[in-house]
Amino acid sequence: MYDIKNIRSQFPMLNNKSMQGKPLVFLDNCSTTFKPQCVIDAIEKYYTDITSNSHRGDYDLCYNMDVQVEETRNTVAKFINCESKEVVFTSGTTDSLNLLASSYAEKLNKDDVILISEAEHASNVLAWFKAAELSGATIKYIPLNEEGRITVNNFRKVISNKVKVVSIAQIGNVLGYLADIKTITKIAHEYGAIMVVDAAQSAPHIAIDFKDLDCDFLAFSAHKMCGPTGIGVLVGKYDILNSLNPSRLGGGMNAKFFKDGEIQYLDAPTKFEAGTLNLASIIGFKAAIEFIQSIGLDNIHNHEIELRDYALSRLSNYENIIMYNKTADSGIITFNIKDVFAQDEATLLNSHGIAIRSGQHCAKLLNEFLKTPATCRMSIYLYTSKEDIDAFVEAIINGGDILDAFFND
Ligand SMILES: Cc1ncc(COP(=O)(O)O)c(C=O)c1O
Repeated sequence: MYDIKNIRSQFPMLNNKSMQGKPLVFLDNCSTTFKPQCVIDAIEKYYTDITSNSHRGDYDLCYNMDVQVEETRNTVAKFINCESKEVVFTSGTTDSLNLLASSYAEKLNKDDVILISEAEHASNVLAWFKAAELSGATIKYIPLNEEGRITVNNFRKVISNKVKVVSIAQIGNVLGYLADIKTITKIAHEYGAIMVVDAAQSAPHIAIDFKDLDCDFLAFSAHKMCGPTGIGVLVGKYDILNSLNPSRLGGGMNAKFFKDGEIQYLDAPTKFEAGTLNLASIIGFKAAIEFIQSIGLDNIHNHEIELRDYALSRLSNYENIIMYNKTADSGIITFNIKDVFAQDEATLLNSHGIAIRSGQHCAKLLNEFLKTPATCRMSIYLYTSKEDIDAFVEAIINGGDILDAFFND
């Protein structure tokens, strides 16, 4: 049985917190997530018990830190089934995609095509825009189907020998659809392209098998999966990863450098980890993965889908609610109330103590497809309760002045 009470009891942010004088209901988990006590304790332990740098000293504290960093790397590797040496610590998904795109640009030229989609988060669009600008390559888009999904059929329509990079989210952060990464990767490889997966919204919610997907690169952030801010990973198949030049240079990533400007890099992953790592967050990241594993990703996913279905069933009687992703594969509901600005709706929910997101959700190319300048998005996570959903639904249908006027029309 999914022990929601026990799970919630481990999160200080769920302990009698309020917003606008109302009990806090947090439904913006795509944006970031709350941290369980074990993660907070792990971070605190770094500062109170084991502070030192890593890879820089010949004393026990520093050696211990090296061990801890590599333990987190191993934990990430086991979590997604890749090799430890394929895991690069970054500050998060944005940093990972920028690192990759700017380095990979050196392998591209003006005849090449980079394929993304209009549903991508800014970090998976703008990083490739930059790579296109640096290399002269062209950006093209996989057409979305009528629901807004990336389908294998549509992918086949645009893949060609000119495509050198395909970069898409496994789960989109607005519509919450799951792309068939394994099949798309297979096709991309047949045409000689590398496959890059933005896993920011999938790694926290579904089991990922990097080897089975066979993609070349994958990126995610710890803070969206109960972990600390400022830490994430870029995972890459080792040979390609190691063939890239680092874009950030400094201490820890070089074997030697000379007065004439020659630099000898260490091998991946170290060559991409210039400077002092975010050590407290690395320690907390391991605790977060272990916490998620103790619940089980299948259980988490089932819990989220159950609550999403419950919310949809309660809202389905109201014709004035426009739903954009009824068939989402994750716990994301994107909606609008007819004739109500998304931000007004979010402000209204805020006055009820309910946190959701309104706007473009950093996926600004998608609004043209959705034919609306902004949407509201509520997103569920492992600690969301049925009571949270009830509060959300009640606030929407009983609302405040704006919505009362609207529903009583
Ligand atoms: C799909 C997707 N990609 C990338 C990101 C960027 O993640 P971060 O801000 O942790 O770098 C997000 C954040 O919302 C996201 O949802």
